[in-house]
Parts: sequence; C-alpha cells; structure tokens
Amino acid sequence: MTDFLRSSELVGLVQGLYIIAGVLFIAALAGLSKHETAKRGNLAGMVGMGIALVATVLLAMRQTELPDFRSLPVTLVLIAVPMVVGGAIGAWRARTVEMTGMPELIALLHSFVGLAAVLVGFNSFFTEGSHDRVHAIEVFVGVFIGAVTLTGSIVANLKLSAKMKSSPLTLPGRHLLNLAILVLSAALLVWFVSDSSMLTDDIEVGVIPLVLMTVLALLLGFHLVAAIGGGDMPVVVSMLNSYSGWAAAAAGFMLSNDLLIITGSLVGSSGAILSYIMCKAMNRSFISVIAGGFGSDGGSVGEDRDYGEHREIKPDETADLLANAKSVVITPGYGMAVAQAQYPVAELTAALRDKGVDVRFGIHPVAGRLPGHMNVLLAEARVPYDIVLEMDEVNDDFAETDVVLVIGANDTVNPAAIEEPGSPIAGMPVLEVWHARDVIVFKRSMATGYAGVQNPLFFKENTRMLFGDAKERVEDILRSLPR
Ligand code: TAP
Repeated sequence: MTDFLRSSELVGLVQGLYIIAGVLFIAALAGLSKHETAKRGNLAGMVGMGIALVATVLLAMRQTELPDFRSLPVTLVLIAVPMVVGGAIGAWRARTVEMTGMPELIALLHSFVGLAAVLVGFNSFFTEGSHDRVHAIEVFVGVFIGAVTLTGSIVANLKLSAKMKSSPLTLPGRHLLNLAILVLSAALLVWFVSDSSMLTDDIEVGVIPLVLMTVLALLLGFHLVAAIGGGDMPVVVSMLNSYSGWAAAAAGFMLSNDLLIITGSLVGSSGAILSYIMCKAMNRSFISVIAGGFGSDGGSVGEDRDYGEHREIKPDETADLLANAKSVVITPGYGMAVAQAQYPVAELTAALRDKGVDVRFGIHPVAGRLPGHMNVLLAEARVPYDIVLEMDEVNDDFAETDVVLVIGANDTVNPAAIEEPGSPIAGMPVLEVWHARDVIVFKRSMATGYAGVQNPLFFKENTRMLFGDAKERVEDILRSLPR
C-alpha cells in the first residue's frame, strides 16, 4: 500500500481519473441542456463526482507519505467523518425539500462554496504565507470572490424564502458605494502583494489587507443582492451560481488542484451563460443586474390605480368553455407548483385532447422560482414535450386561441410590463394571454405575484377569475367535463 501511495503510478492514475471526471462533467452540462437528455446528464454528473471524490481521497492518502504529515488512519478518519455527516445532511435535505424551495436551497449551497473559498484562502495564506506573488494574488482574488458569493447567496436565500423583503434596498449613491469597494479592494491587493514581497516570512502584516478586503467583499456581496428587486432574482440566482463556480476555480488554483479549476470554470461559465440568456429573455441588461439592480430605481407598483371590477367564473362553466373550445393554451406559474396541480392539469390536458381540442402550454422563461421549474413539473406529470412551448413560440398565437388557462401565474402574464412604462417590471417580455378570446385565471385571491406588482389582466373584459387552490379547481373542472 505504502509503495503504491509513493509511486508515480498513483499520480498518473489520479490524473487519468480527473480527466474522465472532467469529460463526464462536460457531458452532464450538455445533457442538462435538453429535457430529453436531462436525466442522462444528471447521471453523468453524479458518476463524474464519484470518480473525482475517489481520486481526491487517493491524493490525500498520498500526502500521508510526506515527512511530518499525519498518519494514514487519522487522515482517513478526518476525511470520512465530514463526508458521512455532510452526505447524510445533503441526502436528507434533497429528499425533504419541496420543488418550490429549491432556489433558496441552491442559494444556500452557493454560500457554502463561497465560505469554502474564503477558508481555503485564509488557510493557504497562514500555512504557505504570501511571499510567492502569483500565489498571493490567487489567495486575494479567491477570498474576494468567495466572500462576495457568501453574503450575496445568504441574502438571496433570505429573499427567496421571504425572510427578508424582496423589494430592492436603494441606498443613496449605491453604485458609487459598490465602485468605492472595488477601488479600495484593488488598492488592498497592491498592498497585500507588495507587502508580501518585502516581508517574506512575516504573515502578520499581510493579514491586515487580507482581512480588510474580506470585510469589504462581504459587504459588497450583501449590498449587490440586497439592491436587486424581486423580479430580477432569477438572474441573481444564476449569477451567484456563476460566482460560486469562479470561487471554486480560485480555490482550485490555491490548492493546485486541476479538477477543481476545471469544474469551477465549467460552473462559472455555464452560470454566466445562463444569466445572460435569462437577462435577454427578461429584456434586462446583464451589466445592470450584476452591478446590483442598476436601473431598477423607483417605479410605481400600480397598487393605488383603479383598474375597475374583476369577474368570476365557476369550475363547471369553465369545463363547458373548454369542451367547446378548438384551441386552449395553458400558462402555468409558481401557483401550479405550490398547489402541485401538475397531475390534474396533465389529466385535463389528456381529456381535452381526447375530445379533439388542441391543447398547448406556454412557458415563460422565469415562470416559477427556478429556471425550467414548469418544464420539470410538467415532465414529472408526463405531459408530452412537444406541446410544451417556449414563450416566443406561442406569443403570436394567442389572438387565434379560444381559451387561455392561467394556472397560478401572475407576473409572467402581466400586461403592465408592456402597457405601463413606470412599472418595476416594465420592459420584461410577458405571455400576452389577453389577446385570446377568453382568459381564466386560477389563483386564491387578488394578491400580487412575486414582484409585488398589481396585474391589470385580472380586470380585463375577457378575463374571469377562478378562485381557490389550483389543484382543487382543476379537479373540479375534470369532474364537470362533459364525457
Ligand atoms: P408569481 O408572479 O409569483 O405568481 C404566482 C401566483 O400563484 C400568485 O399570484 C398566487 O396568487 C398564485 N398561487 C399561489 N399559490 C396558489 C395555489 N395553491 N393555487 C392557486 N394559485 C396559487 O409567479 P409567476 O407568474 O410564475 O412568475 C414568477 C415570478 O417569480 C417572477 O416575478 C420571477 O421573476 C420570479 N422568480 C423567478 C425565478 C425563476 S428562475 N423562475 C426565481 C426567483 C423568482 P394567490 O396568492 O392569490 O393564490
């Protein structure tokens, strides 16, 4: 065993395993980009991570062969205990989390990556010092990204779980504040690096700029995300995903671990691409969102405007309307996820299709609380993929649609985004359901959606409200549907 741990074959084996894991991670990303291949992609990611863990443990075991290092059994215990405890907590959370709670859980997991990068950075500084300039920069940048990710993700978690107000925190001169933190951090980097070159062994002086920058970066992460309003949160979550990837890559540099650099870069760049796609879908400037909600100042939420009276409809009347329709489009939102209404919705779809009604789904890119949320729920309920369309594919068809069922969606079908330039969601593309002949909105009350904006759709001539829990109301319709 000892000979094997010392041998150069072990290094070769670990490198080979790292390459296989890296390829599997790329396959995972490719698979996850399409419904049909998502499960396979997930499997590739899991196998890749398993291989990466085995390789990393082998590498850690090799370290025990170095002089002055702790013994093999101690190392194995130190690795196994946190892995078992962490794995058990992870498995328990993954089993118990509701689909609707996924974004806040993901935000929390991002904060762990940020925290890990900060701890790795400080550990690396205290054990190896900072006399190597390249290493000093790696430590500084790694801790900076990690600290921004840490507090940013905690704020995102608090906002998504409604423990903190989702409205943007608009401090006076907030962009200048962010800029000042960046400039100060750059100055601290210069101090840190030049300091380390002068005082080769004295880490005490170098620790001052490092700690100061950490505090500033923690503040920056908090402020960047606190300044972002509810409607832009989806972009923030994917942006933090990207930051967590770069934090992991920075940790990889500090630990000289190639696989961590590759994995971190894959997560970082795919998160950045996703953020960019989402910004385009929501007509938001990428730079504005990453700069902390720039351009989201003010804006009326339409609360005090009088939109008139809304009209209601009963489930049996809705069933008649549907049975006599030629074309129906269903636009689901967060409420469908809360009610777990996807199963009766799938049944209703099948029943209507059996009657020759053309039923399709229109999915807004940020419907629900995480990218692809609605697609996952509909796939779970076995709705055929080919009738689940993107917003752009269906938006021009509403004028020829007889009935639209808005099931637990609100912001994503809000005409204020187009009709009211002062609205906080102004400019965001929406599903233009109001062009259809009849629109039925399933929700429990007249309350606003995630962005806290009143929805004039509810008061339009051709809209009727079907109040109650979405699952119960769809089941009522199924019972009343003429056989
Ligand atoms: P929302 O605008 O949040 O509206 C959901 C509606 O569902 C609410 O108005 C609510 O009204 C209704 N509802 C809740 N529980 C229900 C139930 N059991 N039965 C029936 N209705 C129920 O949802 P949306 O249209 O999907 O828009 C998504 C919003 O979330 C956007 O603002 C988006 O920016 C934001 N967001 C998205 C993401 C991603 S990545 N997709 C991440 C974070 C935030 P009642 O309370 O009256 O029932």
